[in-house]
Amino acid sequence: MKKIQEKFEYEVYDSVNELTESDAWLLNEARDVTQSAYAPYSHFQVGAVAKMANGQIVAGSNQENASFPVGLCAERVLLASAGSLYPKVPIETIAISYQGNNGGSDHPVAPCGICRQALHEFEERVKQPVRLVLAGMEGKIIVINGAHQLLPLAFSSKELR
Ligand code: THU
Repeated sequence: MKKIQEKFEYEVYDSVNELTESDAWLLNEARDVTQSAYAPYSHFQVGAVAKMANGQIVAGSNQENASFPVGLCAERVLLASAGSLYPKVPIETIAISYQGNNGGSDHPVAPCGICRQALHEFEERVKQPVRLVLAGMEGKIIVINGAHQLLPLAFSSKELR
């Protein structure tokens, strides 16, 4: 028997002023995009905005449905748009923000499990990691240099070859 330890490293910033201009801009866009969420059931509005390797900006917000499982997270709405508008183009960075049910939004939230799987496969397809910038409307900001780090031992398309 041997034990394997996986390391997970991320950056924590105290304010937008510490970010690069590009990340700060993307995060502010993600904050704005929360307004386009369709979240009449959870009232939890999520906005995600990507800067793609070709310079294009693609946005997504969560889109719910009265049949609850039909609803889509902001991250997967974004990935579906990016993949269909610009197939094979890597995403450099996705900023994700939210407006909480009770109006609170003072800490970063990370993508859900299904979105981690979707992000993982996107990275695999384009062979490039996706950076994540996570933050609420205020408070600390987390930067993760590769979404796959959020899903160790991920199930991969390689198993189906
Ligand atoms: N949601 C996202 O859009 N992204 C996440 O990573 C977590 C959750 C959405 C799904 C649902 O519309 C609402 O937030 C509450 O779960």
